[in-house]
Amino acid sequence: MSALNSNISLNDIVSLLSAKGERQKKLHKSADTITLNSFKGKVWLRGIIEYSNICFKNCYYCGIRKDNNKLKRYRLNGNETVEKAVYAWKSGLGSVLLQSGEERSNLFIESVNNIIKEIKKRTNGELAIVLSMGEQSTKTYKKWFNSGAHRYLLRIESSNKELYEKLHPNDNLHNFNNRLKAVESLKKVGFITGTGIMTGLPGQSKEDIAKDILFIKEREILMSGNGPYIVHKETPLFNSYTNIPDANERVNLTLNMIALLRILMPNINIAATTALDALDKKGRLKALKAGANVIMPNITPTKQKKSYSIYSNKPGINNSLSDNIKNVEEIVKESGKIIAYNEWGDPLQ
Ligand code: 5AD
Ligand code: SF4
Repeated sequence: MSALNSNISLNDIVSLLSAKGERQKKLHKSADTITLNSFKGKVWLRGIIEYSNICFKNCYYCGIRKDNNKLKRYRLNGNETVEKAVYAWKSGLGSVLLQSGEERSNLFIESVNNIIKEIKKRTNGELAIVLSMGEQSTKTYKKWFNSGAHRYLLRIESSNKELYEKLHPNDNLHNFNNRLKAVESLKKVGFITGTGIMTGLPGQSKEDIAKDILFIKEREILMSGNGPYIVHKETPLFNSYTNIPDANERVNLTLNMIALLRILMPNINIAATTALDALDKKGRLKALKAGANVIMPNITPTKQKKSYSIYSNKPGINNSLSDNIKNVEEIVKESGKIIAYNEWGDPLQ
């Protein structure tokens, strides 16, 4: 392996995405060394609250897409959402991530806005709020930012326009250029902005993933969450399940991608995502040893958690919230790192 530094070429990235065995160990070790150097062994927790599974989009891969009528839809009420955030704060989690399907109604925008303001008030401004609520107008992004949310995740899913278009309906709601613009708009508004992709999608090459990695670097993105694609029966893409890499390979692609992101971007936040654990019980642990510095216990109320079924076999859906936090604490302990309780954990800039 050539020396790994931030000038690593596209060809090297493509090659390293396939790293296995000793070569993979070395890759992960290099990334871990950089992570230790940047974050001094600390890992930050974000409590995920899945606010609503109502979505007006129809991404071909996603289990909560609009046309899946087998799903019970819910939106948490404002008080309950704020209570869970307060619970996160009292449990020492420095941030909450409010995540939902995409809606752009005034009712939705105002409800989210009120929740942001109320969380800030109830936690003395001490809890960081991260949003993942899809593509919204700049006006909405500004409103939510001014109310106190300060980080936002919007996955690009794939930076290859052609592939993006194969994964989404061909209409205005699923327009690739609008997605790119939304990422830029978030940055302009002032959000610490994150993006990411799924690995192992049908039709996705290693070169595509390598270019996604460079996209994240070139766009000066400060956070990245990436996970393996997992088939869901009630989606159009289910029919392509024979055309994707096996589970092990999809996990390795995500892990190698995390390591490469870390090598290229020593200071950004990289999440050990839950989808990894759906395919490999040690997935998130491996991610924490390969460059990730963030992990996200799910603190959605147990009653609704099973309905946020973006993909199949989502881990921890029957666990209590405290169990989910405990599990994550165990994983961090096993990784040899320490949890930075009560800290926001903004990326180092
Ligand atoms: N497998 C893995 N991840 C998925 N997502 C949506 N559907 C799936 C799936 N089947 C991811 C997308 C989206 C995020 C909320 O969940 O990347 O941005
Ligand atoms: Fe909706 Fe997001 Fe799922 Fe697409 S990926 S259908 S926007 S929840």
